[in-house]
Amino acid sequence: MNIKGKVHYVGVNDRVKHRFEGLWFLPQGVSYNAYLIEDAQGVALVDTVDVAFFGEYMDKIRRVIGDRPVDYLIINHMEPDHSGALALIRSQYPHIRLVGNAKTLQMVQGFYGAGGPEDIEVKDGDTLDLGHHKLSFHLTPMLHWPETMMTYCATEKILFSGDAFGCFGALNGNVVDTQMDTADYWPEMERYYAAILGKFGAPVQAGLKKLAGIDIQMICSTHGPVWVNEIPRAIDTYRRFSAGETEPGLVVCYGSMYGNTQRVAEAVAEGAAEAGMRRIVVHNLSVSQPSFVLADIFRYGSLAIGSPTYNGGLFPVVEDLLKRLSGRSVSRHRLGFFGGFTWSGQAVKTIADYNEKMKMELVGDPVEWKQAPTAEVLEQARQLGKLLV
Ligand code: FEO
Repeated sequence: MNIKGKVHYVGVNDRVKHRFEGLWFLPQGVSYNAYLIEDAQGVALVDTVDVAFFGEYMDKIRRVIGDRPVDYLIINHMEPDHSGALALIRSQYPHIRLVGNAKTLQMVQGFYGAGGPEDIEVKDGDTLDLGHHKLSFHLTPMLHWPETMMTYCATEKILFSGDAFGCFGALNGNVVDTQMDTADYWPEMERYYAAILGKFGAPVQAGLKKLAGIDIQMICSTHGPVWVNEIPRAIDTYRRFSAGETEPGLVVCYGSMYGNTQRVAEAVAEGAAEAGMRRIVVHNLSVSQPSFVLADIFRYGSLAIGSPTYNGGLFPVVEDLLKRLSGRSVSRHRLGFFGGFTWSGQAVKTIADYNEKMKMELVGDPVEWKQAPTAEVLEQARQLGKLLV
C-alpha cells in the first residue's frame, strides 16, 4: 500500500496473539508496521515484522518491487516484534546491508547471529542518500530499549518513529489516519503507553525535545495508524503521559476475597461521587486486565488502593499492581488507601511502606478495619473518597 510518493506500507496485522509481550491483553489485535522506500539508487526497508508473519511481509514487498532486491534494512528497534524477520530477510536478500547504531548491530549478532561485514553503523545525525530520499538517523535511547532510534526522511518529511506514537489495535483496511475514524485508537494509545513506555517518561521527554526542530508531516510508527492529520494529538498524548500530567478523576483499585474490601472500595467511590467527581473508575483487580488499569491510572490524578491482608501481606492481585506501578512514573498522583484483616493487619502497613519509596502525595488517613467493615469504617471510606476529589 502506497502511503506517500514512493514510500509503501508493508506491515501486517496480528489478530491471533492474546497477550503482547506475553503480558498485555490484545482485544483488538496489534499491527507490526514496516515500510518500504523505493528509490533510483536503492531500496530501503524500515524495520521487519514478527517472524510468524514473514510470508505475508515478503508478499507485500514483492508486490511493490518484484524481483528487484532490497539494498538496506534500517533497524529502528530490535525488539523481536520488529526484528523477528531480520535473519530471514537477510537470507532472501544476501547483499542487503543492515543500518543501525552500535547497540543495534550488537543485538543483531546477539539475537540472530546475522551481522555482515557490509552493515552500516550509524551515529546520531548520520545520513543515508537513496537518491531522491535523504534519510537521517536520530538516536533516542531508552525509548524504550537502549538501541532505539528514529529515521527521518527529509524529502517526504516523514518520521519513522519506532514504537513512539504507536498504539495497540490492528489496522482495519486503512493505514493512514486521513482515511479512517481514529476514535478507537486513542484509548489504545494510552494503554500502549502505560504498558510499554510507562517506565520511560524521561527518555520520552528527551526524545520529544530532540524532535522539536524537525518539520514532520507524517509519522510512521511501528504500531497502529500512520499519523498525518492527528500528529499534534499523538505527540500531545505522549507528552502528557511522559510528563505525568493527569486529568481530574479517581481510579479505585482493590482486591477482595469475600466482598468486605469491595464494600469499602464502593464507599470510597460513593464519597468521591458525593463530592462531585464525575470521572470515577473502579477496578476489581481480580477481574480487570492490568494494562487497562494502568492506562486509567496514567490518565487520572487520584488513586485509591485497597487490599485484604493475605498470607501476612497484600492480596496477590494488589501486590501485582504495586509491582507494575513501581516501574512507572506516577509519583505526581494523589494516593489514598485502605485495607482489612481478620486477625493480623498487614495490608495498610505494606501499602504505607510502599509509598515511602513511590512518594505519591498521601491524602487523608488510611482506612483499616478488622473483619467486616462497620458503618463507621464505611463512613471513613466515604470521607477518604471526598478528600481524593
Ligand atoms: Fe513494538 Fe518495543 O516493540
